[in-house]
Amino acid sequence: MDKLKKHILVTGGAGYIGSHTVVALTEAGFQPVILDDFRNAHPDVIDRLEEITQTQILCERSSCHDTDLLESIIEKYNIWGVIHFAADKAVGESVENPLKYFDNNLGGLISLLKAMKSKGVHRLVFSSSCTVYGLPKTIPVTENEEVSYNSPYGFTKLINEQMLEQFVQAEEQFKTVLLRYFNPVGAHASGLIGEEPRGVPTNLLPFITQTAAGIRKELVVHGDDYETSDGTCIRDYIHVVDLAEAHVKALEFIDSDKSASLEVINIGTGNGTSVKEMIDTFVSTCDTSLNWRIGPRRSGDVPAIYADAALAKEKLNWEAKLTVKDALRSAWNYQQKRVQKTSEL
Ligand code: WQD
Repeated sequence: MDKLKKHILVTGGAGYIGSHTVVALTEAGFQPVILDDFRNAHPDVIDRLEEITQTQILCERSSCHDTDLLESIIEKYNIWGVIHFAADKAVGESVENPLKYFDNNLGGLISLLKAMKSKGVHRLVFSSSCTVYGLPKTIPVTENEEVSYNSPYGFTKLINEQMLEQFVQAEEQFKTVLLRYFNPVGAHASGLIGEEPRGVPTNLLPFITQTAAGIRKELVVHGDDYETSDGTCIRDYIHVVDLAEAHVKALEFIDSDKSASLEVINIGTGNGTSVKEMIDTFVSTCDTSLNWRIGPRRSGDVPAIYADAALAKEKLNWEAKLTVKDALRSAWNYQQKRVQKTSEL
């Protein structure tokens, strides 16, 4: 382990956004240490990360609930800072099983903060979500938009943010950046890592790629009678590689003396794309067909939301560089490689 590098504990680092961030951290000269219980990650992702980075990937298999184990990991790896991804994030599931979300998303952060406090680690980048905006009054959405929640999942993200607001008041040295992601999409250019949720995908793009690959029978579009340009919902689809880079920038920002004890920053492209536009762009860009139909609305969906991304540029000197087309191509490339890989197993 290179003692000269800043060691970053990446909870949930074997997951979709976490794994891409591990690549970005390595390339930026940090030493990531993954903590993951692999509840929503494939065990072979570590091998694939080592293939991409051409370095040994440090990984501890655990959830965040074991505070004593967290403390020993912080000590073992001399952790300088933490990026906290580990959480459940399916809106629909959270409605059916709120206790799972309270336990994992709230309990996990409490345990992590206890361990960080007792070991004197006081730098945290926290994975938050545009879901805390609920049904926004104005779009594009700035960080000053009123916050609310539409689901137990959104509730846990909001409470997480408020816990951190209180915590930094009590812990003078502690500094945290809350990144409010919009819709992460796409995959690493190598096609070795990407979005591959366990079970039936709830998010749009993995459902599109799995349908195009013949894994799913058809894509059902959840409603086309919204007050939008083509009647389907609008979102801000941010390439996961750009999103990963934002975490590196957030750590560098915390390390500078420019950051306040708590910063809230939107991470989005600043542009909105409808579901129908995603489908049409996927078909044309990836030169493939897609079996889809219109179905009923999905409860909890907001008609339109996309980011005002000015603060990320101002504070982090970060902006999205990759396009929705880049994301669609990379997601399709990943899907085709994974289908090929699993068919070879
Ligand atoms: C996008 C649009 C669906 C699937 C989620 C999380 C949120 C955040 C971002 C983590 C909506 C439509 C989808 C399908 C469809 N993640 N859709 N058919 O709901 O905007 O947000 O990801 O922080 O917390 O909830 O993303 O991809 O599920 O939906 O028509 O099979 O695609 O109705 O309009 P969402 P999504």
